[in-house]
Parts: sequence; C-alpha cells; structure tokens
Amino acid sequence: MGLHLAPYLPLQHGDIILLGAPGAGKGTLARLLQSKHPHRHLSTGDLLRKADSRSFSLDREIAALIDKGEFVPDEMIIRMINVNVADYRDVVYDGFPRNVNQAKLLDELNVQRSRKIHRVIKLEVGFTLLMQRLKGRRTCPVCHRIYHVITLRPQRAGLCDRCGERLKVRKDDHPSVIAKRLDLYEEQTEPLVKYYTDRNLFSWVDGDGSPEEVYARVRPLLTT
Ligand code: AP5
Repeated sequence: MGLHLAPYLPLQHGDIILLGAPGAGKGTLARLLQSKHPHRHLSTGDLLRKADSRSFSLDREIAALIDKGEFVPDEMIIRMINVNVADYRDVVYDGFPRNVNQAKLLDELNVQRSRKIHRVIKLEVGFTLLMQRLKGRRTCPVCHRIYHVITLRPQRAGLCDRCGERLKVRKDDHPSVIAKRLDLYEEQTEPLVKYYTDRNLFSWVDGDGSPEEVYARVRPLLTT
C-alpha cells in the first residue's frame, strides 16, 4: 500500500533542472511536468527559436550559431533566464545550464532572487535511441509543439494538430549538426553531473520508455 502511495506524496518547492544529451527527451518531459504540476517550463532552446521566428529580435550571428549546433554566449542566456524566471515560483529548466559557467551564474541569480534548486535530473538515453529520436523529430514552426514520425504522429500527416502549420525538421537536427551537438554536450554539459553531485542535488533516470513511463520514474524524485 505504502509503495503505491509513495509517488503521490506532495511535491517539494524549488526549481528542477533537466540534463541529458540532445534528443534525450528533456523538452517532452518538461511539457508533461508543466501539464501536471505548477512548474513552468523554461527552455532556452525554445526561447531562442521563438525570438528567431520574430527575426528582427535575434541577431543573425546568434541564429547561425544555433543552426550549426554551437552554444550562444552565456551572458545572453543568463539575461533571458533572468527576465523569464521572474514571474514564476517554481520552474523546470530544459537546456539550461549547459556548462559550468552558466551553473555558477544561475547560483548567483538564485541568491539575488531568493530561489533554490530542488533537484537536477539527468535523462540517460543510449546513442542509438538518441539518433532515432532526433532524426524523427518534427516541430511546428509557429507553436513549437514537438512530434515524432514514429512515436508521436500528428493526426493529419505533416501538419500541426494545434495550429495546422506544416511541420519542419529543425536545422540543427541534420546528421552533421547532431554530431557536433553530441560532442559539445559531452565536453561542456556532462561536467555538470559532478558540479551538482558535489552539491547533493543530482539524480539520474532511465529515459528509455514512453513519456508517461519516464515521468513515473521522475515523479518520486520531486517529493523528497
Ligand atoms: P535545445 O533546444 O535545448 O536543444 P537540445 O538540448 O539539443 O535538446 P533537444 O531539444 O534536441 O532534445 P530534447 O532532449 O529536448 O528532446 P525532445 O523532448 O525534443 O537547444 C538548441 C540550441 O540552442 C543549442 O544547440 C544551442 O545552440 C542553443 N542553446 C540552447 N540553450 C542554450 C544554453 N543554455 N547555452 C547556450 N546555447 C544554448 O525529444 C526529441 C524527439 O524524441 C521528439 O521527436 C520527441 O517526440 C521524441 N521523444 C522524446 N521523449 C520520448 C519518449 N519518452 N518516448 C518516445 N519519444 C520521445
């Protein structure tokens, strides 16, 4: 009985950071968390892409960095976070922080804003599955909803269920760019595992399974 009730204990207050390689399912899980919990989903990738669709507001050089799979400057990212975090009590960060410098900048911002990180959760997914997920991903250029050609098909082929827009392949989901993003993840983002383990905030879960299965593994980590 106790075991069945355990996943439904009340959530702890504080922000959640999702780590994981490109395609691990951070955005998919973060949207699910936002639909079930008071946490607000904050994706730096989505914020950058949204700014880019209003092309006057994102510098061409920055857009080019994203298309090539490179990181945009830390100062720009932390400014975006500072503006967007202000209205929410608890957030789930997806794609941020992405290197140790951004993690340190977030620590400073949390002190200034009296916020705290509750838990950092890494989604572990093997290379073959990562590639299947990235190669099959389609996104709506208007509302940024995510689909997959096999695991999450739209009701009408190639069209967004929400706004009817034609779905696209992200420029950075082309194979040569995927390789670059995976390398950068290993080099720049993996060191965050040690950073947050040292602060007693780190956990990992198996990211292989349906979004609901992955959520069921994550849910107990949010209550303790
Ligand atoms: P960003 O958008 O953050 O890209 P990413 O970190 O590479 O992660 P992805 O969005 O590719 O993958 P995901 O883990 O969210 O997977 P998803 O849920 O979509 O960043 C893009 C770029 O912006 C960066 O390269 C950089 O240039 C810049 N940037 C962003 N943040 C930055 C920062 N902090 N600093 C500097 N630069 C920054 O899932 C993938 C596919 O798999 C989907 O089709 C989905 O439907 C499917 N799927 C997911 N989970 C499941 C599941 N459980 N079962 C079945 N299918 C699933």
